Amino acid sequence: MTVHFIGAGPGAADLITVRGLRLIERCPVCLYAGSLVPRAVIAAAPAGARIVDTSALTLGDIIAEIAAAHAQGLDIARVHSGDPSLYGAIAEQMRHLDRLAIPYDVTPGVPAFAAAAAALRRELTLPGVAQSVILTRTATRASGMPDGERLDRLAASGATLAIHLSIANLARVVRACLPHYGADCPAIVAYRISWPDERLIFGTLADIRDKTKGARITRTALILIGPALAGIGSDSRLYAADHHHVARPRQGWTGCDDCRVRPTGDDSVNEGLMERSPSDYRQQIKQDWSSAPYYELAETSLWPFWSEGQPFCRMFNTLDLTNIVELACGHGRHAAYIRDHYLFGQLTLVDINQPNIAVCENRFAGDGRFTYFVNSGRDLAPLVSGIYTAVFCYDAMVHFEYDDVLSYLKEIYRILRRDGRALLHHSNNDQNPGARYSDNPHWRNFMSSTLFAHAAMRSGFLVVEQQLVDWGAEAKLDCATLLAKPSA
Ligand SMILES: C[S@@+](CC[C@H](N)C(=O)[O-])C[C@H]1O[C@@H](n2cnc3c(N)ncnc32)[C@H](O)[C@@H]1O
Repeated sequence: MTVHFIGAGPGAADLITVRGLRLIERCPVCLYAGSLVPRAVIAAAPAGARIVDTSALTLGDIIAEIAAAHAQGLDIARVHSGDPSLYGAIAEQMRHLDRLAIPYDVTPGVPAFAAAAAALRRELTLPGVAQSVILTRTATRASGMPDGERLDRLAASGATLAIHLSIANLARVVRACLPHYGADCPAIVAYRISWPDERLIFGTLADIRDKTKGARITRTALILIGPALAGIGSDSRLYAADHHHVARPRQGWTGCDDCRVRPTGDDSVNEGLMERSPSDYRQQIKQDWSSAPYYELAETSLWPFWSEGQPFCRMFNTLDLTNIVELACGHGRHAAYIRDHYLFGQLTLVDINQPNIAVCENRFAGDGRFTYFVNSGRDLAPLVSGIYTAVFCYDAMVHFEYDDVLSYLKEIYRILRRDGRALLHHSNNDQNPGARYSDNPHWRNFMSSTLFAHAAMRSGFLVVEQQLVDWGAEAKLDCATLLAKPSA
């Protein structure tokens, strides 16, 4: 007879391990923490199994249940939420089992912090930004914290923090982290990750408390803090072309490190050629738009987009504005126009540049319909899939690198709900842009209306309409494309 401690994972019934599920399926006794373990997992227990919700039991009651099953030689599935090694209170049960000479083993589960990172589509360790994740909690009346693990001490590391069981202490958490991470640092509250009522509250250390209060979240939430959550870092060396390791030895070298044989070919032909990766081009564009006189000037030049009869305005009027996203929002001139002229539900503003998002946060402060985040420049993590009614992007995608445009098309398709629409203003400059997009008229990067339509269709969209647009003296330099995600 064995007691099997099993991690059920964060909530979704299909996030338990295969091994854990198999054990539940064959154990005639199942003890589970009912408040956080999904019923669907317990439903896998065999017919006639004794099933006990332990959420209202004392430790003594639980040990008595185990001892009774042990006396009858019955295996027990002891199911805990998340992974049993973290805040699971299994240590005290194990001590009792040791004393009673009852055998046990442990099957791990998906911990909440990993499930939250997956929901956010973020890597918690980013080269050059953060290389450690600290799993911690804060003191409560029931559990103190060792002095060396005070949050202000851990925060001094600058690592990504995953703070458990502390949502009621959010004010203290923010106070401890602010001096080390700064007010702009991303802070995310992840509530009941992978349950049907999952919620992600995105903010910064400056506003996460108010946002969480507004959302009335008081329990079952994990707090994530750290710059890696913004998703911007340099590429990992692991996959860098010039990084060689045991699984990818240096090309042309053979044998072990101690007995290398130099190839005979001549490498010198490539010397002096500067290697640039897609992310280098993206970083260049990001930098070009991190601050520019453009933003102030643009405020006074809204008419090309918003005058009646302009294709942008006409197509925008076909969008469902219940839950919209603006990609590459800059200083929020379009968002401000929408606020002043349209009825809308929620507007999420996304930009690669943190200073732009800071301007928008300031500009729309106090208006709960606005949400913001800084993105990677090619995806829309952490937006959840299938819920947005519309996405639009004006005067920005025209500059983006070709492969980033393709990546955004896929991401926009992912986040839109069925029948959702995207209105995207992109380049129709089909001249090879060469090394610098800024050498081209109006800094338009390479794209064409036909290629864009093709990429959109390959991403699953219907192309509702395309309108070529003149820019200054340049005829048909741009295109406004209206896309729809099919209803089925
Ligand atoms: C010309 S500004 C336009 C801003 C705004 N759409 C407007 O019309 O006022 C270009 C914007 O694109 C943003 N940007 C540049 N590259 C980006 C990328 N790869 N992903 C998201 N935003 C990007 C810049 O930070 C900047 O806000």
